Amino acid sequence: MPLFAILTLFPEAIEPYLAASILGLARERGLVRVLTVDFRDFTRDRHRTVDDRPFGGGPGMVLRPEPIAEAVEWLEAKHGSFRKLAMCPGGSPFRQALAEELVAHERVLILAGRYEGFDERVREALGFEVVSVGDFVLSGGELPALCVVEAVARLLPGVLGDEESALRDSFTGGANLLDHPHYTRPRVWRGKEVPEILLSGDHAAIDRWRRAAAIARTRALRPDLFGRAASPSAASAPPPPPAH
Ligand SMILES: C[S@@+](CC[C@H](N)C(=O)[O-])C[C@H]1O[C@@H](n2cnc3c(N)ncnc32)[C@H](O)[C@@H]1O
Repeated sequence: MPLFAILTLFPEAIEPYLAASILGLARERGLVRVLTVDFRDFTRDRHRTVDDRPFGGGPGMVLRPEPIAEAVEWLEAKHGSFRKLAMCPGGSPFRQALAEELVAHERVLILAGRYEGFDERVREALGFEVVSVGDFVLSGGELPALCVVEAVARLLPGVLGDEESALRDSFTGGANLLDHPHYTRPRVWRGKEVPEILLSGDHAAIDRWRRAAAIARTRALRPDLFGRAASPSAASAPPPPPAH
């Protein structure tokens, strides 16, 4: 069973989410294991100090390297080596392609920072990859860590009720496409009708419509995706749309 370990100063902020819904069920059913580790437990001073003032001056506090390193080393001595990701607004963007890659890893460790972030030396010394969940700044890495865990866990066999739904999601399989629009009952709602083709029962025609709708939606909302290199698994990716 794959193991995620989240290093955080606020396990209590993470635990309720891990216990709910799809992740909670996946854990209960033994499909995935998620540990939260408070690296304050690895401090050695009376005040359990995890942070200190930045060298060079300036506002805010920086996470000291020693408790983080000791927590990582403790986890690796216990479970074996982990693929290690440190959450940071300045990291490389977390994308579906990385989630698809991480699903093949037995152990993934995620460092959730706080304050001004962690001492830069942690990254190199412990072999962390630095990952961002978007171009905005949160107060801590707990939500980003949960994003990573959930994005990976939902790809594990048996976690989703319908495995096919994950295969058809936006960005999946390196296809660099958004999902097509979805509709359900009622057939007419506030004067708006469901596209006729979806009621036709002609599955080949529906597939063609959905693919065209996905391409149109990607072109309208995320044209940048067409310029992004497709991963080798993107056998079914569409050609880029003509420029206009
Ligand atoms: C207030 S932020 C630190 C911001 C940092 N001084 C900067 O400007 O890049 C504190 C912590 O929140 C997490 N964090 C905040 N925004 C994030 C994002 N967009 N992606 C990943 N982690 C983020 C990181 O773990 C970070 O160490």
